[in-house]
Amino acid sequence: MKAGAGLFSALALFLLMGAVYTQRTRPRKPTRRPGTTTRKPSVPKPAVPAQPEPQEPTDFPPPILGPPSIYPDCPRECFCSPSYPNSLNCENRNIRVIPVIPSRTHYLYLQNNYISEVTAEPFVNATEVRWVNLANNRIHRIDKQVFQKIPALLYLYVHRNQLKEVPPGLPASLEQLRLSRNRISKIPSGAFSKMGNLTLLDLYHNQLSDSDLGKNTFRDLKSLMQLNLAHNILKKMPDGVPSGLIQLFLDRNRIDDIPKDYFKGFTHLAFVRLNYNQLSDKGVPKNVFNVSTLLDLQLAHNQLASVPLFNGHLEHLHLNHNSIESINGTLLCPYSLQADMSDLSVVPRLRYLRLDGNHLSPPIPLDIIMCFRHLHSIVI
Ligand SMILES: *[C@@H]1O[C@H](CO)[C@@H](O)[C@H](O)[C@H]1NC(C)=O
Ligand SMILES: *[C@@H]1O[C@H](CO)[C@@H](O)[C@H](O)[C@H]1NC(C)=O
Ligand SMILES: *[C@@H]1O[C@H](CO)[C@@H](O)[C@H](O)[C@H]1NC(C)=O
Ligand SMILES: *[C@@H]1O[C@H](CO)[C@@H](O)[C@H](O)[C@H]1NC(C)=O
Repeated sequence: MKAGAGLFSALALFLLMGAVYTQRTRPRKPTRRPGTTTRKPSVPKPAVPAQPEPQEPTDFPPPILGPPSIYPDCPRECFCSPSYPNSLNCENRNIRVIPVIPSRTHYLYLQNNYISEVTAEPFVNATEVRWVNLANNRIHRIDKQVFQKIPALLYLYVHRNQLKEVPPGLPASLEQLRLSRNRISKIPSGAFSKMGNLTLLDLYHNQLSDSDLGKNTFRDLKSLMQLNLAHNILKKMPDGVPSGLIQLFLDRNRIDDIPKDYFKGFTHLAFVRLNYNQLSDKGVPKNVFNVSTLLDLQLAHNQLASVPLFNGHLEHLHLNHNSIESINGTLLCPYSLQADMSDLSVVPRLRYLRLDGNHLSPPIPLDIIMCFRHLHSIVI
């Protein structure tokens, strides 16, 4: 009876974890501006009934103006902190037109406004700008000339806007580029050329298909560590992905096939997510995920009938919600079960395994437990 209760609470814990997990992956709501209107300038979300587009000019709330600043060049719709003279805070102010940016500005915050176009004029003296946050506006166009004014730009955040293509003329100095949650279906050729310092490229939740990603699209991104192409309409694995990548996210596409040697050239690849695709055993070569640098592999919500082979170094494996009917620990074990398991170098490092939502039922096969000595959570 006691054991039964223990099992029950363990199950409850997993259910709870499931709930937490789905909550955490749910897209975050845009920050609500304090004390103004409830209308949010966000991209329409499919789950929420469509909000009527605000009508010009009456439906836009007026810009919020602050008290005069100690800085004569501080725009009234922004806040210039005496303690951070290089920051210009213009977020959450109902701004429609970007004000003239003071030349001392390094960090520019313009998120959560109603900006629809970014032109070069406000940036004419802002040659020192390093960070720009334009997230959660209505931007559909960024003039090329903007980036000629700010050649030292390192971080550019334009997520949650209405861009239809990757802006042309991005500076080669960029280190982080966030373009998620736009409507991008076009990457101009050479869009990322010479960006040898870019470490993060986020194109999550756009409308990119295979033909938009050429062999050379990512060619110059020698420093890229994180690439997020999740929630697009890709059917194939992207070509020419930089080999130094650490994190590759491709969830929620329509990928049904992985070329046999796809992961061969990568030197540091540790996190691969392919949840919510159309992978079946046919499109997953037996050894494709046997990559020694891989730590976390997520293949949930596909159509796999068997567990793909993986390397002894893998720590987290998500295979929930597939069509797996049986698991054979002897076959799966990255090392021979006959090997001397007291030699710690041959103990597989798998710690977390999710198999729920398949056609499996407890108990967990003994050979799984024998092989994966570090396994401390298995959800079945
Ligand atoms: C830019 O700087 C120059 C020289 O300091 C100044 O004369 C000019 O008015 C500034 N332009 C803007 C738009 O602030
Ligand atoms: C890339 O980073 C290095 C080191 O910080 C710097 O010297 C170089 O100028 C940067 N490249 C570009 C194109 O900004
Ligand atoms: C997986 O790759 C390792 C080298 O990293 C190799 O020794 C091992 O035989 C491979 N496993 C299988 C099942 O092919
Ligand atoms: C698991 O696979 C091994 C090797 O192919 C085989 O000998 C064994 O019978 C299988 N175990 C089960 C329970 O099917």
